[in-house]
Amino acid sequence: MNAINMEHHWLPFTNNRMFREEPQIFARAEGVRYWTPEGQEIMDAASGLFCCPAGHARREIADAIHAQVMELDYTTHFQRAAPNSFRLATRLAELLPAGLNRIFFGSSGSEAVDSAMKICLAYHRARGQGQRTRFVSRNWAYHGVNLGGTSLAGMVNNRRDFSGATSDVVHMRHTWSDEQRFSLGQPETGADLADDLEEICKTYGAETIAGVFVEPIAGSVGVILPPQGYLQRLRAIADKYGLLLIFDEVITGFGRTGSAFAAQEFGVTPDLMTMAKALTNGTVPMSAVAVRTDIQQTVIDAAEGDRPELFHGYTYSAHPVACAAALASLDIYRDHGLFERAKALSPVFLDALHSLRNLPHVFDIRGYGMMGAVQLTPGAKPGMKGSLVQRLLFREGLHLKATGDALIIAPAFVTGEDDLARMIEILRRVLGRADL
Ligand SMILES: Cc1ncc(COP(=O)(O)O)c(C=O)c1O
Repeated sequence: MNAINMEHHWLPFTNNRMFREEPQIFARAEGVRYWTPEGQEIMDAASGLFCCPAGHARREIADAIHAQVMELDYTTHFQRAAPNSFRLATRLAELLPAGLNRIFFGSSGSEAVDSAMKICLAYHRARGQGQRTRFVSRNWAYHGVNLGGTSLAGMVNNRRDFSGATSDVVHMRHTWSDEQRFSLGQPETGADLADDLEEICKTYGAETIAGVFVEPIAGSVGVILPPQGYLQRLRAIADKYGLLLIFDEVITGFGRTGSAFAAQEFGVTPDLMTMAKALTNGTVPMSAVAVRTDIQQTVIDAAEGDRPELFHGYTYSAHPVACAAALASLDIYRDHGLFERAKALSPVFLDALHSLRNLPHVFDIRGYGMMGAVQLTPGAKPGMKGSLVQRLLFREGLHLKATGDALIIAPAFVTGEDDLARMIEILRRVLGRADL
C-alpha cells in the first residue's frame, strides 16, 4: 500500500484527508465481492454504486468490449455513426414504456440530466413557448453534479458552494414523514404532497415552467418512496399545466424496482426519462435520455435549413465501446431473467433488512425492490455516524454507500441468499457495537 502515491488524485465526494489516513482500496472484483490489495474480501452490498446488478467481472461483457475495440474503437456521432448505437437505441425502446422511444446518449447520469433539461427547453422553444425556462424539483433530490443537476439538487450540501452558478429551480417538499418509519411498501398517505406542483404553477405561472424532475424513488438521499398515488398526481398536474414530467431513473432503471423501469413498476409514464449506471453493468461510463416520440419530432420540425436540430452532444455520445457493453449487459439481463430475479429476491432482501430494526442506532428502515436504507440516529454532528459506520463496515468486510446517516444497500440481483444473509450479519455486528 505504501507504494501508492496518493497525493495527486483528488477523490470525488470524499474526505481526502481522512482517506489518506485510512485508504480503503479495491484492487479486484468478481461476482458480489471485492478484494483489497492485501487480499481482504469485501462483500459488495451496493452493486458498486448501483451500477452492477449482474455482478462483477462478467465474461460476456468483457468479450464484447474487447471485440468492439478491435473492430471500431471510436467514432464521433456528430454527422457520423456506428451501427451498434442504433441497435442499442432499438433495444432500449423495446424495454421502455410505449412512446418513450427516442434515445439520446451521454456518458454519465449527470450528463443525461443536463441533456434532458436542454431537450425540454428546446422542445418548448420549438413549439413557441420559449418563455418556459424554469424547472421544478424536490427537496432531498439528487440529479447529478453538472450545473443543471446542481440547480435541481435538493440536497443542500451539493448546492451550497455553487449557488452563484445555479439556475431557476423551485423545490417541492420531499415525501418522507415520521409516521412512515419502518413501514413496508409505498406509504399510504402523502399523495397530496404532489399538490406542491400545482401551488408552484400558480405562484410562478405555469407558462414559465418547462418541466418537473423527480426520482421515482429518491435514491442517493436514502431510498425515499413515493406515496401511493403521488406520481399519478404529479402526472395529472403536469398535463393540466403543459409541463414535461421527467423521471430520473439513473438508479431505479434496469430492474432495481423489479420492473425494467420504475415508470412501469408504478404505472406512470413520464415524457422524458434519464438512465445510466446499470446500462452497462457499470463497466463503461454511459447514460441515456429517453424522449417521447412527438417531443423529438417537434424539435426536428422546427429546425431550419441544414443545421442540426439540437445544438447539444458529447465527444463520447454513443461511444461504440459503451454501446457494445450496454448491448451485452441487456443480453445478460434478458437471458438470465435478472429483473424477474430482482422481483423474486426483493421480499427476502427487505425482510432481512427489517430484521435490523431493533438494533441501537437504527432510526428507520426503508426499501423497495432491491434497494433499501438503514437510517441511523444522528451522532454528534449529522453524517458523522454514517461515515464512521461505513468505514467500520469496510474493515469488517462490507461495502455500501452512506449518505449522511443513511446506509444505502442495493445488492446485485445475482446475490445468493446465503451471501445476502452474510451482508446483513456484518451490518448487524457493526451496528451492535457499543462504541458507535
Ligand atoms: C438519480 C440520479 N441522477 C443522476 C445521477 C448522476 O449520475 P452520475 O454520477 O453518473 O453523473 C445519480 C447518481 O447517483 C442519480 O442517483
